[in-house]
Amino acid sequence: MPRKIIIDTDPGQDDAVAILLALASPDEIEVLGITAVAGNVPLALTQKNARIVCELAGRADVPVFSGCERPLKRALVTAEHVHGKTGLDGPVLPDPTMPLQDTHAVEFLIRTLRREPAGSVTLCPLGPLTNIATAMMAAPEIVPRIAQIVLMGGAYFEVGNITPAAEFNIHVDPEAAEIVFGSGVPLTVMPLDVTHKALVTPARNAAFRGLGTRVGVAVAEMTDFFERFDKAKYGSDGAPLHDPCVTAYLLKPELFTGRHINVEIETEGRFTAGMTVADWWGVTGKAPNAMFMGDLDADGFFVLLTERLGRL
Ligand code: BDR
Ligand code: CA
Repeated sequence: MPRKIIIDTDPGQDDAVAILLALASPDEIEVLGITAVAGNVPLALTQKNARIVCELAGRADVPVFSGCERPLKRALVTAEHVHGKTGLDGPVLPDPTMPLQDTHAVEFLIRTLRREPAGSVTLCPLGPLTNIATAMMAAPEIVPRIAQIVLMGGAYFEVGNITPAAEFNIHVDPEAAEIVFGSGVPLTVMPLDVTHKALVTPARNAAFRGLGTRVGVAVAEMTDFFERFDKAKYGSDGAPLHDPCVTAYLLKPELFTGRHINVEIETEGRFTAGMTVADWWGVTGKAPNAMFMGDLDADGFFVLLTERLGRL
């Protein structure tokens, strides 16, 4: 039986690859729906991009829902400097023809978690945690029904990418992250410490392109675009595929290693709002609330990803 998931996302080239990996793996993963949130670009673009990606995968049947337009308590911060004006710059892809669902994403999350058997639905957030936290606040009874949350966000050793102290997804909506990290739901976290190891080197990019399919070429073009930023900033070998670490973990958890530790979210720091204060060294004595990943078998990750994308 495939695992039921909801992908909560702000596409984003790396979100797109994460979605494609999930849709390429129907034996293991059933995508109940995709909920869009404002993040990398405003909501009007993230919900559109989510539909573009479903159509690229040949999966116009996957319902896409539009969610929260702005963080719980702050103005939206976006990342066009990384992802381009559309959020999905790189390949030329047609506008979607599949409809956007009428239901609000938060309503869909709540209804689905109420309907499905308790403990059977995994949430996979790939952007700011606004939709998830809003659903938890509006319907607290759904919280214990969530099987687990596997998310991309935060950093410890890598510290920050949007500020010196904070990773983008957590920085955009720290109040939402605080709710999710304090929810008691089992969390698996893919921080920058891991995702900065998932680098699309020229050889890995050539392997995507070499698939010779529409999806393979589109993914190569997305990572071509997206790599400019990280190459210039970090001097790295290529684009980090942050969000696909989440879907790869569902397929092959043995690719990742980490520690089950306490992670708190800084919401007030003068310089550090959105920091994930991760007790990696076990100095606080606080109870663990997250499996916080630290390392990745990058070659194994790219073998899996390339093979699966080749199925679309
Ligand atoms: C995260 O921020 C976004 O720019 C990416 O899509 C990823 O989810 C990395 O910090
Ligand atoms: Ca994202």
